[in-house]
Amino acid sequence: MLNVQTKVAVIGAGSMGMGIAQVAATAGHEVYLYDNNNEAVSAALKKIQHFLNRSASKGKITDQEAVAIFGRIYGIETLSSIVDSGLVIEAIIEKIDIKQKVFQEIESYVSEECILASNTSSLSITSLASGVQNPSRFIGLHFFNPAPLMKLVEVIPAVQTQEKITDRCLNLMEHWGKMPVIAKDTPGFIVNRVARPFYSESLRIYEEGIANPLTIDTAMKELGGFRMGPFELMDFIGHDINFKVTETVWKSFYHEARYKPSFAQKNLVAAGFLGRKSNKGFYDYTNDIPIEEQMELDNSKKQIVFDRVMSMLINEALDAAYWGIGKEEDIDIAMRYGVNYPKGLISWGKEIGLEKIKSNLNGLYQIYKEERYRPSPYLI
Ligand SMILES: NC(=O)c1ccc[n+]([C@@H]2O[C@H](COP(=O)([O-])OP(=O)(O)OC[C@H]3O[C@@H](n4cnc5c(N)ncnc54)[C@H](O)[C@@H]3O)[C@@H](O)[C@H]2O)c1
Repeated sequence: MLNVQTKVAVIGAGSMGMGIAQVAATAGHEVYLYDNNNEAVSAALKKIQHFLNRSASKGKITDQEAVAIFGRIYGIETLSSIVDSGLVIEAIIEKIDIKQKVFQEIESYVSEECILASNTSSLSITSLASGVQNPSRFIGLHFFNPAPLMKLVEVIPAVQTQEKITDRCLNLMEHWGKMPVIAKDTPGFIVNRVARPFYSESLRIYEEGIANPLTIDTAMKELGGFRMGPFELMDFIGHDINFKVTETVWKSFYHEARYKPSFAQKNLVAAGFLGRKSNKGFYDYTNDIPIEEQMELDNSKKQIVFDRVMSMLINEALDAAYWGIGKEEDIDIAMRYGVNYPKGLISWGKEIGLEKIKSNLNGLYQIYKEERYRPSPYLI
């Protein structure tokens, strides 16, 4: 049983571990926070305290609550201190061999009832589970950044996971105030798979010279209500990270044409133009010149751009439903609460009309004769 008395251990005190520890402590658990770099733990504790104090000063929680939540998080220096944990969530470096080694060590300390979870974004949960002695209690719990603010958690059972473990995790995540969805253990799970065309089709339109980044960004914001356009968002995420995710998904799907990475983005990475963090990406951030003043907006292209990117996004969401990566309603929840899309893509597609989506894709296929534009079997 998982309840508020369950002690939660979070392994890795970087951006994700720190946020997950805060979420668990806010839900009332005592939390152990471990990192093999002690300084990462102290830095994380400082940031958590700062976040909680800010929430208190904004009136979101009381001062006493902030103190109590913070008091439930124990920074620990040795991994063996997690012995009485009922749930361990790992959020360390994204390397399978290192994760497997750490899980083996974790397994040697905790009881047989303890649930082992990984927050990996791109590794197979089944492969990670296969590295431990009892894989039936292993699961993926994929939080989104920043974990205290983003509601979505993808719950990913491995092939070996017992059903009751999945149910317990789903209940717990609901208790933590999250929106959990079950995702099949396939590359990118739901969100990182379904969101690919937002970037890749936009990059493609840009590379073909059909429209510039500002026109594409404006189309998606004005006609679709997205908070950020794809190019602004890629600049924000960092091209090194965004390119790596695309490349990983593409390779994991045995070079599926829909996920093909872009040369334009690859070159930005090679040039060190990583986006906001290096002051230059598709836009220039050195002198705070608004992006609207950096290139010319072509209003005549907005609808073409929007129809093309949306058709690809909706096709991807329908395809994920077709292959059972998640239930239709969960795929919609995932995109709304994992990446803040204004609407769920499947219901959006039905609103636009699935026949129209299919005909847009067939139109693109007629022009390019490329596999990436084939409509999902869901549409046929
Ligand atoms: N950053 C995101 O947006 C995001 C979102 C969802 C999931 N994830 C996943 O979460 C995990 C962590 O990502 P992050 O962004 O927090 O990384 P990060 O680099 O901010 O933090 C990773 C932490 O793990 C620690 N670490 C490395 N090896 C360790 C070991 N052997 N034992 C203990 N601690 C170790 C590092 O010292 C570091 O503090 C990755 O698996 C990543 O794929 C990241």
